[in-house]
Amino acid sequence: MKPAPFRYVVPASVDEAVAALGTGDDPRALAGGQSLVPMLNLRLAAPGTVVDLNRLPGLDGIEEEDEVLVVGAMARQRALERSSVAARRCPVLPECLAHVGHTVTRNRGTVGGSVAHADPAGELPLVLLALDGEVEVAGPGGRRLVRARDLFTGFLTTSLEPGEMVTACRFPATDGPGVGAGFAELAMRSGDFALASACAVVRLGEGGQVDGARVAVGAVADRPLLLPGVGHLLAGRKLDDEAVGAAVRAARESVDPVGSLQAPPAYQRHVVGVLVARALRRAGERALGTVGRQPPPVRRSAPCPVASGQTAPGSAKSPAPGEVGSAPRRVVVEVNGRRRVAAAEPRRLLSDFLRHDLGLRGTHVGCEHGVCGACTVRLNGAAVRSCLMLAVQVDGARVDTVEGLAEPDGRLHPLQEALHRHHGLQCGFCTPGILMSAAELASAGGPPPDEREIRSLLAGHLCRCTGYHAIVDALVEALGTASAGRPGGQGP
Ligand SMILES: Cc1cc2nc3c(=O)[nH]c(=O)nc-3n(C[C@H](O)[C@H](O)[C@H](O)COP(=O)(O)OP(=O)(O)OC[C@H]3O[C@@H](n4cnc5c(N)ncnc54)[C@H](O)[C@@H]3O)c2cc1C
Ligand code: FES
Ligand code: FES
Repeated sequence: MKPAPFRYVVPASVDEAVAALGTGDDPRALAGGQSLVPMLNLRLAAPGTVVDLNRLPGLDGIEEEDEVLVVGAMARQRALERSSVAARRCPVLPECLAHVGHTVTRNRGTVGGSVAHADPAGELPLVLLALDGEVEVAGPGGRRLVRARDLFTGFLTTSLEPGEMVTACRFPATDGPGVGAGFAELAMRSGDFALASACAVVRLGEGGQVDGARVAVGAVADRPLLLPGVGHLLAGRKLDDEAVGAAVRAARESVDPVGSLQAPPAYQRHVVGVLVARALRRAGERALGTVGRQPPPVRRSAPCPVASGQTAPGSAKSPAPGEVGSAPRRVVVEVNGRRRVAAAEPRRLLSDFLRHDLGLRGTHVGCEHGVCGACTVRLNGAAVRSCLMLAVQVDGARVDTVEGLAEPDGRLHPLQEALHRHHGLQCGFCTPGILMSAAELASAGGPPPDEREIRSLLAGHLCRCTGYHAIVDALVEALGTASAGRPGGQGP
């Protein structure tokens, strides 16, 4: 399946975006596209207008105010995960982001898109709710703030009105004296949506007793759930085993899990208790580490390499602002160092553009919803899923595909040589995508990645043939990783 035709609009300002989102033909904002484009591809959504927010200036900042981390709606998830400001002011954010999809999807997926998408298993909506955060909203009626507890109203549903868009997410900082937050989740595999998740925030008094606690759980209802009863029963108590045990029992009693194919309701209920305990203990450890300390001075955030500007990895220069409509338009792109020009309808996926319009069939297509990784290419240096981008979005950008890895004289790239030497491929269907993700890691600089990072990268790539061990060995060698300890029988 491919997206149905739509009118494509590239607003130059928030006001223009709001105007385009206010039209009557079921318009949808396009942020990172990591949820919307799969829905377009599967025709679970067929909006009349797609409003591409990727060209809007000033929406990708990660800034600190006195008590709040203000994250622009278009800040990439990867940028927040790597942000030193987030690590210092609100460490539960990088902690939860490591569970959001895969590195490649986080390169492109945005913080505002994740919150607006309101997936009940989404990590960022859960953390925003647990922290008692807010979103900044722009709409036809002006600007307003919406608290997270008023935002999530049902499955993939928010209280945003037609024409409204999220412009920033406001996460209360947790680095004050005696404050800590923790996150815990269980998923089938690294990068999968959670079977259940929990986030806890505690504030401890000088004597170590709980002055305030908020506990929220994800993936067990049609939206992330705050469990106020659990917070109340902890008030005034030390966060010891007895108190955590009481919180676990209360949490299990407070939920009525919907269950899923992988996790029947009774199992989910059990897991909720386990995760609430883990999140509370983590929050308690962090809070104890800061009891009695003064709040750190507020500093401006350094620009983040992924977040900054249109030329940053993961972003593309997008078409010039203005309405593009649904007719084919000229796309000029540098592919593997060569200028290429072709026409593409706005609904044309980048994967199809590369394969069928530019004849680069090394980019493979498997699932077309971001899961298998076969279509991974590099966009301005960052690995992205080409099945989750529109070809028109790469106008003016640099794209690298597997065809560009080898030297012009045919000598293989060290990653290709290592895969060959270690028999890291059989049918080879997954191999181009793995190579392009690994190429991003290879060019990252700094110390070689450890084997955990390599396995985490491979979790975003499905290989049906080789069982991963040979691939891990090849990447360990090619990326200069110290040792290839092999945990018997495990996948990535
Ligand atoms: C393989 C895979 C695994 C994933 N795993 C996880 C996971 O484990 N946890 C998780 O949380 N997510 C996961 N995701 C989803 C991912 O995090 C998405 O990036 C996120 O849900 C949506 O963000 P986006 O920027 O890509 O938004 P888009 O896909 O562009 O948009 C999503 C929705 O939000 C709307 N929207 C976007 N931005 C705004 C805005 N500023 N204002 C108003 N509405 C807006 C869009 O119209 C659309 O309806 C996964 C995705 C993939 C492909
Ligand atoms: S992830 Fe793009 S085709 Fe599977
Ligand atoms: S080598 Fe066949 S799918 Fe990976």
